[in-house]
Amino acid sequence: MSAAEIRDLRPLHLEAVQHQHISRPVSPIPFPLNDSKIHLLLCATGSVATIKIPNIITALSAHPNLSIRLIFTASATNFLAGQSAEQPSLQDIAALPNVDGMFFDEDEWRDPWVRGNHILHIELRRWADIMVVAPLSADTLAKITQGWSDNLLLSVIRAWDTTGELDVVRDVPGLNGTDSIQGQAGSKRKKRILVAPAMNTAMWLQPITKKQLDVLNEEWGVKNGGWFEVLTPMSKELACGDVGGGAMKDWREIVEVIEDRLGLKSSGAVA
Ligand SMILES: Cc1cc2nc3c(=O)[nH]c(=O)nc-3n(C[C@H](O)[C@H](O)[C@H](O)COP(=O)(O)O)c2cc1C
Repeated sequence: MSAAEIRDLRPLHLEAVQHQHISRPVSPIPFPLNDSKIHLLLCATGSVATIKIPNIITALSAHPNLSIRLIFTASATNFLAGQSAEQPSLQDIAALPNVDGMFFDEDEWRDPWVRGNHILHIELRRWADIMVVAPLSADTLAKITQGWSDNLLLSVIRAWDTTGELDVVRDVPGLNGTDSIQGQAGSKRKKRILVAPAMNTAMWLQPITKKQLDVLNEEWGVKNGGWFEVLTPMSKELACGDVGGGAMKDWREIVEVIEDRLGLKSSGAVA
């Protein structure tokens, strides 16, 4: 099947399942590719830094041409259950500006699959102009580098178009202007995945972390024609009391990187 045929799919009308994390009216969720919006697939894993997700979304509300869809791993949901002022519930997060979808592992399996049904992790991949995993836990980092795909977030990453053969890189201003998105000479343009690792300092210093980050930075990194961009952690006193590296990059800097990569500071809608 050619790329043109793949892109010519009809709009979808998937519905999010009613699951334990959030109660809201179930409504059809289409996956439009020509809605004049820039599509951010923002994901969080089981790190304390997941509590920065509301800050990131709120800061990005300055851009009404942005559509945000969220994926939370099962562990990540524990950090956003309305238990403190800085930890609103998932329901509250769903109501933030620009958020028009929130997905969990259960959403993959709403109905027993039959031929003709759409597959959520594939549709999310096609829909996304960029995927951002902030925070990225040690667990999910390890699984990504090993090719695991045993949850929704990992399935999207495992099914990412690493060749540039399948997905269109849409006419988003920021995606056109940067050299790094072009990849190496002769390679096709690829959509990218930004990851912001966040973990305890001892986990960060464990030698396997560097090996796995080398895979993302060197083997699969945008600077070498790949699709991953790692947002390096910072040093500080962590929530657990340890002091050192492994803390997620400051959420304000993450917002700035997203704005830059998507051309949000200088642009309007998708052409
Ligand atoms: C309170 C608490 C905080 C945690 N913080 C982190 C963290 O900052 N980084 C990390 O890699 N793991 C952290 N973990 C462990 C992960 O949640 C655990 O490895 C989990 O399996 C990650 O699953 P996920 O990658 O599918 O989200 C924490 C666990 C708990 C109970």
